[in-house]
Order: sequence, then structure tokens, then C-alpha cells
Amino acid sequence: MKGTLLIALLALASPFAHAGGDAGAGAQKSKVCAACHGADFNTPISADIPRLAGQHEDYLVRALSDYKSGARKNPVMGGQAGALSAQDIQDLAAYISGLPGKLKIIPLQRLVR
Ligand code: HEC
Repeated sequence: MKGTLLIALLALASPFAHAGGDAGAGAQKSKVCAACHGADFNTPISADIPRLAGQHEDYLVRALSDYKSGARKNPVMGGQAGALSAQDIQDLAAYISGLPGKLKIIPLQRLVR
């Protein structure tokens, strides 16, 4: 009985079950994005389109929410994000942040001195 409860709690704590985005749903919703950002989100079709694979999930949520609200202005992404729901944004961020990427992440110890 206690074992079952422990397994249930561990399942809740796993990275796939955390609150917010569903990476599987995000993969489906990301097809339209891949037309510009690349199927792997690492090979954008032109140099003015950013790589996204492996970007921090909260950064992606913030960027997409800001395009949607107009706080971040870009005619292309404003149009893209305007059609997304808050759940779409969470799902897309969960999927894209989990992709293997070439973005460099600054180690935490370099930020905290
Ligand atoms: C028509 C091409 C195109 C499509 C389709 C597109 N994007 Fe973009 N995306 C861009 C461009 C261009 C930029 C850079 C905009 C800027 O300078 O703010 C960008 C920027 C972004 C950024 C900000 C990246 C950063 O480093 O700040 C995110 C996040 C993003 N796109 C996600 C998406 C998602 C998710 C979708 C699908 C819903 C999508 N994009 C569809 C062209 C596109």
C-alpha cells in the first residue's frame, strides 16, 4: 500500500508529469513552427530566425507570451503567437526545450559568485 503511494508520488515528480506543458502535444503543434525554425529546431531556414532547440522552457513561454500580448513586437512571430492559447504555449515550450540543441548554457556557478 505504501509502495503504491510512493510510486504514485514519484510519477508525479517525474519531469514528464510536471505542471504546465505536454511535450507530446507540443510536438504535434510545432509542425507549423518547423517550417521556419527547422524540423529539429536547430536548423532555421534563414540566418534571422533563431535556433530554439534546448532553450530554457521558461524563456520560451515568456517569449511566446510576450509576442502574443504585444509586449515583444515582431510582425512574423506576433502573427504566429497570436493564434496560440496559453496551453499551446506551455506544450510547445515543453517540447522545444527538451530537444537536443546547440545553444550554450552558462553554468550556474559562473552566475553565482
Ligand atoms: C514564418 C517563419 C516563422 C514561423 C512559422 C515561426 N517562427 Fe518563431 N521566429 C521567427 C523569426 C523571424 C523570429 C525572430 C523574431 C524576433 O526578432 O523577435 C522568431 C522568434 C521566435 C522565438 C523567440 C526566440 C528567442 O531567442 O527569443 C520563439 C520562442 C519562437 N520564434 C517560437 C516559434 C513557435 C513556437 C512557432 C510555431 C507556433 C514559430 N516560432 C513559428 C520566424 C518564424
